[in-house]
Amino acid sequence: MSNPDHPPAVGVLDQGPELIFPPGFLWGAATAAYQIEGAATEGGRTPSIWDTFSHTEGRVVAGHTGDVACDHYHRMPSDVRLMAELGLKSYRFSVSWPRVQPGGSGPANAEGLDFYRRLVDELLGHGIEPWLTLYHWDLPQPLEDAGGWPARDTAGRFADYAELVADALGDRVTYWTTLNEPWCSAFLGYGSGVHAPGRSDGADAVRAGHHLMLGHGLAVQALRASRPQAQLGITVNLYPVTPASDAPADVDAARRIDALANRFFLDPVLRGSYPTDLAADLREVTDFGHVRDGDLAVISTPLDLVGVNYYSRHVVAAPVEGAEPEPYWRAPSCWPGSEDVRFVTRGVPVTDMDWEIDAPGLTETLRRVHEEYTDLPLYVTENGSAFVDAVIDGQVDDVDRLAYFDAHLRAAHEAISAGVPLRGYFAWSLMDNFEWAWGYTKRFGMVWVDYDSQARIPKSSARWYAEVIRRNGLAAQ
Ligand code: FCB
Repeated sequence: MSNPDHPPAVGVLDQGPELIFPPGFLWGAATAAYQIEGAATEGGRTPSIWDTFSHTEGRVVAGHTGDVACDHYHRMPSDVRLMAELGLKSYRFSVSWPRVQPGGSGPANAEGLDFYRRLVDELLGHGIEPWLTLYHWDLPQPLEDAGGWPARDTAGRFADYAELVADALGDRVTYWTTLNEPWCSAFLGYGSGVHAPGRSDGADAVRAGHHLMLGHGLAVQALRASRPQAQLGITVNLYPVTPASDAPADVDAARRIDALANRFFLDPVLRGSYPTDLAADLREVTDFGHVRDGDLAVISTPLDLVGVNYYSRHVVAAPVEGAEPEPYWRAPSCWPGSEDVRFVTRGVPVTDMDWEIDAPGLTETLRRVHEEYTDLPLYVTENGSAFVDAVIDGQVDDVDRLAYFDAHLRAAHEAISAGVPLRGYFAWSLMDNFEWAWGYTKRFGMVWVDYDSQARIPKSSARWYAEVIRRNGLAAQ
């Protein structure tokens, strides 16, 4: 730690007995390229949909962009040293597609790949396991201009890109995530349009979701062929969906949202089929004519692990007249075929994103994936919270974030006790960064970033997490 004299912020770890995680549990933190790298026009990088989107007036709060972000591109070695000081066992980062394959097709950009080679070398040199995500939302702009994810060809382009990254880094990277949160790419990007590329069409969102999964399957096949030892997975963002009451109409609302949020991806990837109720719900939106023979076999190509991102729960009810306007992830256009379902606010504590804090939902989600879908090892590839932080006397005492992590790690431990093969946990995020449409106004980091000076200050949650990692556990409560 940069401040080894400073004790953990709370004393919970000084009380025993401890809640110990399995040996070898992979403790990590996650980031994504566009959110931290900056250097948007350096080293041969060309624009992605997020460059275009953030430079379009009115798309991102306060006109923020990822042009500089955390300047990680230039500060990578000291950021890796910080990770080592925290004792991270693994670091989940994403590769910027337009940095390593400008324009999204054709040969690799050696300078771009070199950045990730150096990153991986630094990580390995500090005993930190690199965990590489191929796609965390930064589609090269020319591929969007050619139709984006609603166009089938994008899936093939993604597999080519995967192969190119595997050729360069596959000798040293064991863990690979193809896609991060395809729900967001499809339904926020092409449904509601609050994320890049900012298009709003239900049928396009559904097509995008399919082609993302097709790209995932093709990439898994390409990676498997070139790197048989690699551990391959996908990361999905999952939510328990709870009906507001036992009334059949509320229960049906929950079924619909569960189909769109969760089963849309889990069923094709892990079972090789779309849920039948989903197709019925979407019949006014699409006839699924974009699904070709053989696609589902590709999409369900066997994996080695599944990554789960968990933040909150959805509570939903049947529609009512004159429902209040909703926050962005509840926008009707995110939920084609279920536009009139009502999202219910329960009045429980929320984060600065207005996301309800619901740690038991993590246990529920992990158990569901294991009990209903797969025996594969599971990893929490993201979990965390935004809160308003303040630097006081050079310290950031983020007690709310620390409590959020603590509660969710207990929930993760409970899932393990219930038989879930959970093998690791990645905090979102290593450091404050560009939170998409919210720009720099939402802070998720365990490490504070001063965007003027680019100074990093480990918050109390970072010091606490370092202690959790060191002990491989938490105090029992
Ligand atoms: C997830 C994203 C990640 C970050 C967190 C808060 O949906 O994968 O990039 O924005 O939410």
